[in-house]
This record gives sequence, structure tokens and C-alpha cells, in this order.
Amino acid sequence: MENKTVYLNGSYLPLNEAKVSVLDRGFLFGDGVYEVIPCYSGNLFHLQDHLLRLENSLAGIRLANPFSREEWQAILQPLLTGIGDEYIYLQVTRGVASKRDHAFPEKIAATVFAMASKIAPFPGRETGVKAITLDDQRWSLCNIKAITLLGNILHRQAAVDQHCAEALLVKDGMVTEGAASNVFAVIDGVLVTPPKSNQILPGITRDVILELALQNNITYSEENFSLPTLQSASEIWVTSSTREIVPVVELDGQSIGNGTPGAVFHTMNAIFQAYKQSLLAVPHPS
Ligand code: PDD
Repeated sequence: MENKTVYLNGSYLPLNEAKVSVLDRGFLFGDGVYEVIPCYSGNLFHLQDHLLRLENSLAGIRLANPFSREEWQAILQPLLTGIGDEYIYLQVTRGVASKRDHAFPEKIAATVFAMASKIAPFPGRETGVKAITLDDQRWSLCNIKAITLLGNILHRQAAVDQHCAEALLVKDGMVTEGAASNVFAVIDGVLVTPPKSNQILPGITRDVILELALQNNITYSEENFSLPTLQSASEIWVTSSTREIVPVVELDGQSIGNGTPGAVFHTMNAIFQAYKQSLLAVPHPS
């Protein structure tokens, strides 16, 4: 295991020395929230948007934010090598209580952990990937980026078991998102993604794509669509901070479009890559 430097509760230390108590509520209950922030050549991508989502997640679980935005940036920046594509993983749990009790303990310090990792090149972005559809069996607070991820894990593993890259989830007949991604479809020539709600994570990549669509006159709509509509889409994409935009070319064994990444994907991916490059011209944008 790579013994990189990580951040834990005010200290920078080697990964194999970073330890938390078995009474940490993150360990016992999954009582915490997290963020995944991509960084290109040492530039934290849309840091303010990620920190705003972190604030919302913390408020959603009634946990005080331990740091200001400036303090967060000061903590995270030293973890980066500044070389190539990396991502920060950070998590905040409710901390270590003296006994196991579901209810919040009184006055304990949150546990804060952060580390940086390389983003490996993802060949599926060029070729497209396979996905399956599944009943969305998660809870109804999916807008909170909670570390409690059993639903997502089981859905994602079901996809991996079928040699697929992602599971696209369907709740009450309507498509929500992927197990670890947001979903877009091109339906009758219009780029469509489900609106923000408590059924989906408000993805930062999703927001960037919608903003870029607006700026580049690509017609889009935030609306719910059904599984049959998804199946008849000419293109399907999944999006996330670590994979950016990935075209889905096969869904439940059926080709999407002509079975290769579509024209709207190629256009948006080129716009997205150019946008990333444009941010690198400015040192450490946030
Ligand atoms: N997951 N929806 C879910 C359920 C996710 O887990 C993610 C990302 C997204 C996309 O959000 P963003 O564009 O902000 O990354 C949507 C991260 C990458 C993870 O859990 O590792």
C-alpha cells in the first residue's frame, strides 16, 4: 500500500499511521458525510461548489462544519502533488462517543479525514461502457453525500457482477441516477437529466455540464423520465468527479443508439475538456 501523507484531525501523517477509534460513529453507524473533489495539476476543480455541497450535507445530518472554506482549502492543498489528475477524498464523522447509542452524543469533536489519490485514466470514456438498470433501493435523503453507502455499494456490485460499469437506478418507474454517478440521456435531440431532489445527489459534474450546455446553445431540460424513455434514448451518459462524462453504449444487453458514443457526447466532452484546460490557465482557481 502506498504510504502517502494524509490529514487526520489536525495532523498530516503517513497513511499507515492514521488511526481512528472503533467507537467512532463513522465506523459504528456510518454517521458522517464526505466529498470527492477532482484536482487538475494541483487546481481544485469547483472547490467552492464542493464546499457548499459539504455544508449542505453537514446541515442535513445536523453536524456543525468544523472549518471555514478558507480553512478547508488550506487543509486540502498540501495533500496534492500538483502533478496530473488527482482527487481529494474527505470525510467528516460525528466523532468518537464514549458509548454506542444511536442518538447524538453531547459535545464531541468531529473526526476529519482527507487524502489525495491519483485519478487513473478511464478508457471507457472513449469506448463507452455497459450498464444495467435496477430498482433504486436507497433511502430518501440521497441529496446528502452520506458515508452510509450500502445501497449504492450493493447496486454497483450487482453491475460489476454482470461485467458492467454502472447500475442506473429506477424509483417508482422514473430514472434517478447511477449508483455512483448522475445520468443524462439524449431524448428526441434534447439533453435531459432528472431535476435535483432528495432522490439524487446534486452532482457538481452535472451542474458544470448544464452550465456548459447553456453557454454553448445545447438544448437541455431538467425533467424526470421513465425507464422505457431511457431505453429509447439515442444517447445515455453517466457523470461524476472521478470519471467526468462516460457514454453508456449498452443498457441491459441492448445497444443504445448505434452502440458507440454519440455525437452530443463528443461535442460535450470536447467542451468539458476545453473548459478544464481553461481553468488551468488561472493558478489555483476555486
Ligand atoms: N460519487 N450520484 C452519486 C450517487 C454519486 O456517488 C456521485 C459521485 C455522483 C456525481 O457527483 P459529482 O459529479 O459531484 O462527483 C452522483 C463520487 C465520485 C464517489 O462516491 O466516489
